[in-house]
Amino acid sequence: FYSVDKQKPRQKRGFLFYKSDLLSFLSYICVLMSEPKNHIVIAIDGPSGTGKSTTAKMLSKNLGITYLDTGAMYRAITFVAMSAGVTPSDKEALLSLLQKTVIDFDSNNQVLINGFCQESAIRSPEVSEQVSYYSAVPEIRSALTAKQREIGNKHSCILDGRDIGTVVFPNAAFKFFLVTDLKVRAARRYAELIGQGKQVTLQEVEENLRLRDSIDSSREVAPLLKAPDAIEIDTTQLSIQQQVEKIQAIVSVVA
Ligand code: DC
Repeated sequence: FYSVDKQKPRQKRGFLFYKSDLLSFLSYICVLMSEPKNHIVIAIDGPSGTGKSTTAKMLSKNLGITYLDTGAMYRAITFVAMSAGVTPSDKEALLSLLQKTVIDFDSNNQVLINGFCQESAIRSPEVSEQVSYYSAVPEIRSALTAKQREIGNKHSCILDGRDIGTVVFPNAAFKFFLVTDLKVRAARRYAELIGQGKQVTLQEVEENLRLRDSIDSSREVAPLLKAPDAIEIDTTQLSIQQQVEKIQAIVSVVA
């Protein structure tokens, strides 16, 4: 290719062109042809307990596209590290765990760690207490961000998290940022955990949400942030059904 570039340009119908231009053009056409048609990425970001996951899950069903729960991925690696006694400051051990751990989802969006379903374990209050410390580690973020991009580039996808619209897919076709009053978030999360038989108090849940918001928003790498072009939706007064309808109406009008 280098030698072709250096060839003398040939005159053709009044235009100067290089053979390499033709090759670039042909490879551009090949890339265009291999791109999946109507590929779409929808980013839903926001603090903990705003109903992002439930909303994204329902939307993915309605729209027939893949759902990726990025929080579950951070919870999964946190669970693995805690089980192995590895702290967030032990970068070397974390990197080794990242290399050995396969995080996946089954067809019901239940998280699989090295092939085993660990959905309940990653949602435990113990993991919720620690996950913000592990997800602030740059090495963990870059490994999981790469995985998220790989999935989102392959399939039309709706992803929920903290940095999807700002870092993972800054060119997403649609970006939403959900916000909800802290008391309402705590009450919703508390009811969910009690429904799962977990032993927690409303105060503990509220404190955990407040602390996670603060750590997630203030970390150096990919903090929780509304992308300038994201549509903010306050879900304090909305049911999940209404949240879904609101977002779906926007996506359907533009798409
Ligand atoms: O969505 P969730 O509450 O399950 O997320 C758990 C934690 O994972 C959250 O407190 C911060 C972290 N997280 C993140 O840092 N970046 C994401 N894209 C998703 C989650």
